[in-house]
This record gives sequence, C-alpha cells and structure tokens, in this order.
Amino acid sequence: MNLSGALETGFEGLTLYPGWIDPAAQRALVAALEPALAVAPPYRPLMPRTRKPWSIHQTNLGSLGWLSGEQGYFYGERHPVNDAPWPALPPALLDIWSDLAGYEAPPECCLVNIYQGEKARMGLHQDRDEMALDAPVLSISLGDTCIFRVGGFARSDRTKSFRLASGDVMVLGDPSRLRFHGVDRIIPGSSQLLETGGRINLTLRRVSEPAGSR
Ligand code: SIN
Ligand code: FE2
Repeated sequence: MNLSGALETGFEGLTLYPGWIDPAAQRALVAALEPALAVAPPYRPLMPRTRKPWSIHQTNLGSLGWLSGEQGYFYGERHPVNDAPWPALPPALLDIWSDLAGYEAPPECCLVNIYQGEKARMGLHQDRDEMALDAPVLSISLGDTCIFRVGGFARSDRTKSFRLASGDVMVLGDPSRLRFHGVDRIIPGSSQLLETGGRINLTLRRVSEPAGSR
C-alpha cells in the first residue's frame, strides 16, 4: 500500500489522503450506498434539548448508529424513524479502514452526513461519544468540496481550515482524536459525482473497546 500521498496537516495525528479513493471507486461507493439508504432513509436530526433541526440529513450503516436524542448524543442499534436495524457496512469501507486506520478491530459505525444546499454546515464539535477513544475516526468525502475546520481541544482554541474534495480520506487519530472540527460550508457544483449535487461524508468509528483489549 502506498501511503506516501499523505499530507501533513500541521496537527500530529491528523492525516489527509487526497484522492485516496479514485473516481471509479467513488462511483462504486455511491452505488453501494443506494440500497443501504433505501433501508435506512436519511432524516434530519434535531439538536438535543432545543430540538432545533440540523441543516444536514443523516443516517447510519453498521451495527451501531450515532443518534441525536432529546437528552444528548448516543449510539443505538436501530433507525430512529423506521426502527429497522442499520444496514451492513459495505466491504469497500471496511477495506479503507483496514488500509488507513491502523486499528486492531473493525469500525462499528458509519455515520452518513448529507450536505445539500448553501446552508448545510456542521458546527465545531468533538467526536467523543465512543468508548474506544484509542481508535481513530476516519472520514471520507464524496461529491462537492467542503471547507473543513479543525481547532484544538477547547472550542475557543485557534482553528485552521482546509478543503476536503471528493475521494479524500482524513484520519483523525491520536493525539488529534479529540480536536474540535466542523464544516463551514460546501462549494456547490465543485463535483459531478452525485446526481443531486451536494456532499456526502462517511465517518467510520469504532465505538466499543475490542474484546480482550487491556
Ligand atoms: C463529522 O464531523 O461528523 C462530519 C465531518 C464532515 O462532514 O466532514
Ligand atoms: Fe465529527
């Protein structure tokens, strides 16, 4: 495996693999998502407590899905609207994880974030609802380019932004695993991959500690 295309981001543990997924593989991934999204239709999550709708749609693949409930964020085994178990993770995603995550166990969750339109964004946040914080978070971009922002370990820390384009893979690993991050906006029309336009982000996460670890 040629890992030499990795880009230093200036943050140790945060690595960007531009164009890691070639255009044919991107199309195959989009095709693999189609039946999965039919089983687990994207929905608009509501913020905990305020119950304000997010600007994006979400769904999940894998044994565990990340959910935004009234009391806070949590992992659950079923779709919040149709109560169906989440569809399985496509093999192509498991392969990307084994190539780049450097982790002993497979991911359990693929959060699917769908950005459509000029208002779609994701505020600065930390991914910290997982028990396996030693596992990296691996994020795949498909479709339109986004402006991605990364900060420190407090919300008010200085941030820097860079672009994530279709086929790019980002690994957020130790010691950057808990850095604040978010998406400022997408650049409409910057990719032809998705018929509907917009951007799909696939975030792979290991949630539970692997059996037999420590
Ligand atoms: C996320 O942090 O869950 C999504 C980030 C992205 O869309 O690139
Ligand atoms: Fe995140």
